[in-house]
Amino acid sequence: MRNPYHEFTAALLLILMACCWFACATDGFTGSYVRKAKKPKDMPLDADVFMLPPGYNAPNQVHITQGNIDGSAMIISWITNDEPGTNTVLFGTSNYNLSFQAEGRVNQYKFFNYTSGFIHHCTLKNLKFDTKYYYEVGIGHTRRKFWFNTPPKVGPDVPYTFGLIGDLGQSNDSNITLAHYESNPAKGQAVLFVGDLSYADNYNHNNIRWDTWGRFVERSAAYQPWIWTAGNHEIDFAPELGEVEPFKPYRNRYHVPYKASNSTAPFWYSIKRASAYIIVLASYSAYGMYTPQYQWLEAEFKSGKIDRSETPWLIVLMHSPWYNSYNYHYKEGESMRVMYEPWFVKYKVDVVFAGHVHAYERSHRISNIAYNIVNGNCRPVADLSAPVYITIGDGGNLEGLATNMTEPQPKYTAFREASFGHAIFSIKNRTHAYFEWHRNDDGVAVIADSMWFYNRVWNGIHDSV
Ligand SMILES: *[C@@H]1O[C@H](CO)[C@@H](O)[C@H](O)[C@H]1NC(C)=O
Ligand SMILES: *[C@@H]1O[C@H](CO)[C@@H](O)[C@H](O)[C@H]1NC(C)=O
Ligand SMILES: *[C@@H]1O[C@H](CO)[C@@H](O)[C@H](O)[C@H]1NC(C)=O
Ligand SMILES: *[C@@H]1O[C@H](CO)[C@@H](O)[C@H](O)[C@H]1NC(C)=O
Ligand SMILES: *[C@@H]1O[C@H](CO)[C@@H](O)[C@H](O)[C@H]1NC(C)=O
Ligand SMILES: *[C@@H]1O[C@H](CO)[C@@H](O)[C@H](O)[C@H]1NC(C)=O
Ligand SMILES: *[C@@H]1O[C@H](CO)[C@@H](O)[C@H](O)[C@H]1NC(C)=O
Repeated sequence: MRNPYHEFTAALLLILMACCWFACATDGFTGSYVRKAKKPKDMPLDADVFMLPPGYNAPNQVHITQGNIDGSAMIISWITNDEPGTNTVLFGTSNYNLSFQAEGRVNQYKFFNYTSGFIHHCTLKNLKFDTKYYYEVGIGHTRRKFWFNTPPKVGPDVPYTFGLIGDLGQSNDSNITLAHYESNPAKGQAVLFVGDLSYADNYNHNNIRWDTWGRFVERSAAYQPWIWTAGNHEIDFAPELGEVEPFKPYRNRYHVPYKASNSTAPFWYSIKRASAYIIVLASYSAYGMYTPQYQWLEAEFKSGKIDRSETPWLIVLMHSPWYNSYNYHYKEGESMRVMYEPWFVKYKVDVVFAGHVHAYERSHRISNIAYNIVNGNCRPVADLSAPVYITIGDGGNLEGLATNMTEPQPKYTAFREASFGHAIFSIKNRTHAYFEWHRNDDGVAVIADSMWFYNRVWNGIHDSV
């Protein structure tokens, strides 16, 4: 027997499902978490995480970063405070036999009335891939020993897991973000850091806060490479203090392998790591036509050196986001977007990670390159060749969260929420990568937003839901 009531419910259900599908496919999600509005406080100078290690001239602020294009070199950096000491790093694959030795260099800088410690940088070369190395610094006085794993040899199906942290600072919340990253069961193997490290400039550029930050992150940055991006808090331009050389503390403390990618400045460069090709851009260095950064990026894309059959995943890091629907830093990334977005679409960048806005946001795959002054096509449109844009400037610094969002939520943004946290980008093979965002308010294993990325070259179907 026919039951009109059942038919009616079925039809209603179908309509509801269609509506839901449409809504889910086109409208984004805004997290409804309600947070304390108070800004976090920086950890006091005598906090446990800032303590100098004991011993005469003990190396501190130890950190490492990739040292060449393919990951078979590592830059080891550390600071000594009593005297220069040696620039020697002893290293080896056995904890009990550090049979290799490398020599670095030492430098020191002054900033207003501050004089830095002795900053050492030493590049370990010709490392075996996928190997655990132990290394020791402070040779001659107080020695400290650490270890790291080299990445697997570059190749198209090599799995690799990146952590993502931005705008970290040195507050209690920063400490929680770092602790959550460290204990995340996904086990990040290297950190892609999207800029704004210490926030020392908020202390009238007192560089002691650069030192405390270096000691704070050592517990991670001495054991796995952090890939650095320069943010606005790295500029430290302070003419009122007679300091007019931009990026002076950052450039002295955080070396990157920019020459290996033929870059002429440490603020933009590229590396390969496992199955990823990573381009780091500089939001605060000239990027217009004819500038060094423009010419360099043009060569990156047009020379054919980005071989997606070798490194399928093309990742870009920058500080200031191009797509951002919070009421903070409105349009600060816009002029760079206008310059470079056509390349990102043409060369199918998989994902762009940015910081700057102290919140989390993930876009759909969209582009906004059709506009030509007269045609009126000035809105972002769905574009399967375009990257997904992720803002991950939610490390937890003292300036607090960006809670004020534009309303209604623009169609191009898939998910946004003003919470502190970190993210993980886990490459499985040439076609699949899993992205997950973790907010600090949850347990370390809880995923608050996630997405399966399909590689734009090898699997360029719709993925950004
Ligand atoms: C330490 O390692 C080096 C190089 O691998 C090797 O030649 C040497 O025999 C090792 N020494 C000991 C005591 O194992
Ligand atoms: C540097 O100058 C600031 C501001 O005048 C002052 O508070 C601080 O104590 C000075 N530091 C040193 C090392 O002289
Ligand atoms: C920061 O954390 C420390 C140690 O957990 C705690 O003692 C302190 O009260 C916290 N400070 C703030 C401002 O939350
Ligand atoms: C920072 O976090 C670490 C790891 O959880 C903890 O051991 C340390 O006491 C914390 N320090 C502060 C000042 O909160
Ligand atoms: C850098 O430029 C040199 C000279 O043009 C070229 O041989 C080399 O392949 C380039 N390296 C990279 C990583 O682009
Ligand atoms: C949010 O930002 C808008 C635009 O700048 C501003 O008009 C509004 O007052 C802000 N709202 C709050 C609660 O601060
Ligand atoms: C790539 O990884 C995805 C996700 O783990 C998996 O489903 C897929 O089968 C893998 N592809 C190949 C060719 O192994």
